Amino acid sequence: MVSELLRVMELEVKAGVTTGRLDEIAEAFILSHGAIPAFKGYYGYPASICASVNEEVVHGIPGPRILREGDIAGIDVGVKLDGYYSDAARTFPVGRVDKQSQRLIDATREALEEGIAKAVEGNHLGDISWAVQSTAEKRGLSVVREYVGHGIGRHLHEEPQVPNFGPPNQGPPLVEGMALAIEPMLNLGGREVEVLKDGWTVVTKDRKRSGHFEQTVFVGKAYPEIVTA
Ligand code: MF3
Ligand code: CO
Repeated sequence: MVSELLRVMELEVKAGVTTGRLDEIAEAFILSHGAIPAFKGYYGYPASICASVNEEVVHGIPGPRILREGDIAGIDVGVKLDGYYSDAARTFPVGRVDKQSQRLIDATREALEEGIAKAVEGNHLGDISWAVQSTAEKRGLSVVREYVGHGIGRHLHEEPQVPNFGPPNQGPPLVEGMALAIEPMLNLGGREVEVLKDGWTVVTKDRKRSGHFEQTVFVGKAYPEIVTA
């Protein structure tokens, strides 16, 4: 359901649409599929999706903001169905975007893919973290540290935290069946972030652009299973 919803979001993200409209569409989709929006009401969060535009990193609150050609829009969705949570995000270009923005989007997706590839039994959690960090930094991008991925299951956020940085070969051993939400946030400029006065929206300190991709993944014996692919 989460992957389907992100495909709907991909079709709806275009110049002229408001982030509030995207939220309405997502909420209607979730409810019509008999599920519950995971984010709405979570610590008072007011919407069903997060929509984080350009310099916004994560947790942007949908509203009257109109997407413009050349923007990049991070759309993060989560649902609860039959007692279990699933969480995923993608950063979409709005129409044609500049080279740097496309590079940011591609690198963030690649960093996530490299992290996911480590989600197999016998590895350590730190192998995921290091794969994400090294992929990002090889491409000259910085990695946000204040926000991290997480275990997921009967709650949206469970242990362990899944940092997007740190040394390999450390942290808890990965075991088949663990469910992890891996979610790198990469910046074109510095890695520092701050929270806007709305109490939610995380932005880069230098106001340069940020990308965010997330998948919910099961650790496997031989290979990872991407639940939200
Ligand atoms: N994927 C994000 C996270 O894991 C979305 C949470 S939004 C919130 O933090 F509103 F629920 F906090
Ligand atoms: Co998450």
